[in-house]
Amino acid sequence: MSKLCVIGTGYVGLVTGACFADLGNQVTCLDIDPIRIEKLKQNEMPIYEPGLEQIVAQNVKSGRLLFTTDYVEALEGAEFAFIAVGTPSGMEGEADLQYVRQAAESIADLVHHPILVINKSTVPVGTGDWVADIIRKRRSGAPLEFDVVSNPEFLREGSAINDFMNPDRVVLGSLNRDAAGKVAELYSSLHCPILITDLRTAEMIKYASNAYLATRISYINEIANMCEELGADIQEVARGMGLDKRIGPAFLEAGLGWGGSCFPKDVKALAHMAVLHGTQPQLLQAVMEINRNQRRRVVYKLRKALGSLNDRPIGVLGISFKPDTDDVRDSPAIEVIHLLQNEGAIVKAYDPQAMDNAASLLKGVQLCRNSYEVAEGVDALVLATKWNEFKQLDLQRIHQLMRTPILVDGRNIWDPDRVRTLGFTYYGIGRGVNTHPNS
Ligand code: UGA
Repeated sequence: MSKLCVIGTGYVGLVTGACFADLGNQVTCLDIDPIRIEKLKQNEMPIYEPGLEQIVAQNVKSGRLLFTTDYVEALEGAEFAFIAVGTPSGMEGEADLQYVRQAAESIADLVHHPILVINKSTVPVGTGDWVADIIRKRRSGAPLEFDVVSNPEFLREGSAINDFMNPDRVVLGSLNRDAAGKVAELYSSLHCPILITDLRTAEMIKYASNAYLATRISYINEIANMCEELGADIQEVARGMGLDKRIGPAFLEAGLGWGGSCFPKDVKALAHMAVLHGTQPQLLQAVMEINRNQRRRVVYKLRKALGSLNDRPIGVLGISFKPDTDDVRDSPAIEVIHLLQNEGAIVKAYDPQAMDNAASLLKGVQLCRNSYEVAEGVDALVLATKWNEFKQLDLQRIHQLMRTPILVDGRNIWDPDRVRTLGFTYYGIGRGVNTHPNS
């Protein structure tokens, strides 16, 4: 059993802390937000993440997981201090490191025993060195025995616990191999490949992975747009591509594009790093541009179907940036809603989990209790997030409730033939119709 302190109880910190406790370690999670910590002590989760509440409750009960706002208490006797604080986008797309700095300074000021500082926050390449410098400078009078290890996280919201417990790989970067080896032991029971690199390489692996996944999505969306014009079906195209082992099937789902708290911020930050260091991130710029356009295309489709959208009631199903989360940060759904409002549409919307988080962002939107309430009297329904419950909708009932039965399936969940048979006008993403006489 090792003693860990996890700084930051956002989605990364909380999942990391709870899972390491579950693996048998003694973990104290620290946050500077007293309300958040008080709620966590009452087992109230700050985020919706399947399985999180149970794993936190079990480990709090067993005494292995504690929450505090007190750095001294959290760091006392800790062999490992994980930094898992937010790194929001700054003015020019750069990662804002103020919270990482605060965490590093607190460790420098309060720790008086050997410690490993592990960076889990997504930070620009070179930040590990910067954190080490901060600690070294602040402790110039009384040097602290420490090493910095970069341990990027690859968890996805909605499946974070499972991703932590069954990782494809663990990446550890450090200038001291022994230090990385000690962190590797924390993961040894997970039986996955552990890649040990230098600090900067580990930091780059994180950005390169997220940016590559975003690139795949923008790529498939670009092909989807061609499919619409050329009469091909992107679902089959993606299947045909994905069966090639060199390509693989994951992250080839065409739709409204990528959003969330990670991809937009990380692609922007990587492009910013590139420019800062004199290289041209041409591909990343195109990846971001395609993603922006993908959201606008929904509005073009609706305009094509309905003419002016002014005063038209339009329903939107799904608000979170992806299913199984209540996270609405940089959600494609929210941008689509704003674009529709800019065209004068009257928007109604529903999400299974994100209604509370969305309320303040969706001024003038009628927030409904379920999908059927959204469908009532609207001229079109836009499916923006791929929640399972939308796949089970009674489409006949939806058809009867709508004023004009137009479906814009922004995540390709419905079978075009089936919904057309039910009387809908259907627009998917990249689902072209072959109108050749021989077809
Ligand atoms: C992403 C990465 O997948 C994680 O590995 C990483 O740890 C995390 O960012 C992070 O940096 O913290 P996440 O943002 O939770 O995880 O969500 P994803 O499942 O990657 O989806 C991102 C966006 O891409 C969503 O808006 C989703 O709807 C969209 N997407 C995903 C598609 O449009 N098509 C796809 O085929 C897959």
